[in-house]
Amino acid sequence: MAKPIGVFDSGVGGLTVLKALREKLPGRDFIYFSDTARVPYGRKPREMVRGFAYEIAAFLLQQEVAAIVVACNTASACALPGLAGDTPVPVWGVIDPGVEAARRVTLSGRVGVIGTKGTIEAGVYQDKLRALGLDVWAQACPMFVHLVEEGLAESDEAEVLARHYLENHPDIDTLILGCTHYPVIQPVIRRVMGEGVRLVSSAEVTAEAVAAVLPPDGSGGGSVIHYVTGGVPAYRHTAAVIGGVEGPVIPLDVSRLGDAG
Ligand code: DGL
Repeated sequence: MAKPIGVFDSGVGGLTVLKALREKLPGRDFIYFSDTARVPYGRKPREMVRGFAYEIAAFLLQQEVAAIVVACNTASACALPGLAGDTPVPVWGVIDPGVEAARRVTLSGRVGVIGTKGTIEAGVYQDKLRALGLDVWAQACPMFVHLVEEGLAESDEAEVLARHYLENHPDIDTLILGCTHYPVIQPVIRRVMGEGVRLVSSAEVTAEAVAAVLPPDGSGGGSVIHYVTGGVPAYRHTAAVIGGVEGPVIPLDVSRLGDAG
């Protein structure tokens, strides 16, 4: 039987990527790691987030995963490409797929990217988009992650914050949702950005990239095991905004995580 694919994020955002992966790879089993005890990653120092990513990768390798998907833009910006080079199984991040998604749809060549402070300050999206000859507008939207984790994606608060961050956007035709939590608040972002701006995220292109390398049918039946470092009921509650979780949710003591590997 094929080994599972490990997927991780600071919270529930990576479930948007897991959903796309499960659609493209229906026979594969997955392990989803949600580091809810330490969410958000977006305001933490780069070296700290990098350390979290290495710890989680070591834990996933102990579970004998066939590959790892870093379903978090902040962790991708902080830990890749180093983590991929140091890990004995294939590792995918979500930034290259986000760039590719924008490249495919922009007509004007003027593209925006929104993400956590960590992702935007790292400048990885901006560098990769500019290397393709695109004009880039980048904006950090740190409070969006909290809205999603608190189940407030469709609230007056979300509307006010979206206007605060996005209302003065320049003339762009494409906006990358450069945080895996943001597809959950897409309706609010869409209202503020207007119909003329295409919203793209990395989930589908990431799943395409993984499916191009790993056989889609792992004869495993498509199961998911969730590991969470925070509370299980809170995780289930928050995940409900992304369609809920199937499969067991296993709590982990984050202070013991470094013992893995
Ligand atoms: N979902 C994450 C990302 O894609 C991280 C959010 C956070 O923990 O700040 O960046």
